[in-house]
Amino acid sequence: MKLIDGKELAHSLRGEIAAGVAGLKAEKGVTPGLAVILVGDNPASVSYVTAKKRACAEAGMLSREIRLPAETTEEELVARVKELNADPEIHGILVQLPVPKHIRDKAVIDAIAPEKDVDGFTPINVGKMMIGDECFLPCTPHGIIKLIEFSGMDIRGKHAVVIGRSNIVGKPVAALLARKETNATVTLCHTGTPDVGHFTRDADIVVVAAGRPNTLTGDMLKDGAVVIDVGVNRIPDETNPKGFRLVGDADFESCSKVAGAITPVPGGVGPMTITMLLWNTLESARRVAK
Ligand code: GUN
Repeated sequence: MKLIDGKELAHSLRGEIAAGVAGLKAEKGVTPGLAVILVGDNPASVSYVTAKKRACAEAGMLSREIRLPAETTEEELVARVKELNADPEIHGILVQLPVPKHIRDKAVIDAIAPEKDVDGFTPINVGKMMIGDECFLPCTPHGIIKLIEFSGMDIRGKHAVVIGRSNIVGKPVAALLARKETNATVTLCHTGTPDVGHFTRDADIVVVAAGRPNTLTGDMLKDGAVVIDVGVNRIPDETNPKGFRLVGDADFESCSKVAGAITPVPGGVGPMTITMLLWNTLESARRVAK
């Protein structure tokens, strides 16, 4: 079994991104800028936003963090997004999800200018992705494709099973895997699938993004399968100074005995999500600088 080291791949790509940022500054005088909006203080979201900010700084990008109280109204949030749409220093806008329940995700996403939508969440970018137009690809799905390739697997002709149908991961990763470039045969399983194991036992690639520990266990895998674990679940753990530990959606212990390659949690998908976000922000700044 091979561990797919997301930190290693992220590190090498971030080196390329930092070089791109330096080049853009030198040639065009443009510094890529990312604005990250966080509403409320969900601990997982705070930690993601902190990691995104640090990654921006390391790549030489400008990052602007906007922390808003949990009581912020939808109208106020939409107004902040629109200010950033008009701000020439900002090339990428990200609203960390989930937002508090009284705010509709859709209303916020729809407010982001598609040319600054470096998450790839707006209907325009989702539509472009589906028809194969140039667009910002959603960060986690794009990172997942890179991780599968990095594992050494040739995706073409393989059977990929995706577990979970979220707009952020499941649906877009299924769409990307089925594109001509990757040419996988894709099965999308979800909470309405009576026997997920029936499908995963035939899979060469399993992407698990269900948001629930132990969704995938070793007995559900074919020998040698590549497993990409997107889950980030906090499990209470008294022995850990933080009071919790992170586990994925796959049972690592049993899956790692059958899989040919598997991503760890943490250190697999997470670093790649952030890397593809930096990639899109650099691309956005390059378009403006042309
Ligand atoms: N919440 C979990 N993943 C993501 C992501 O990729 N982008 C945003 N904006 N929020 C998230």
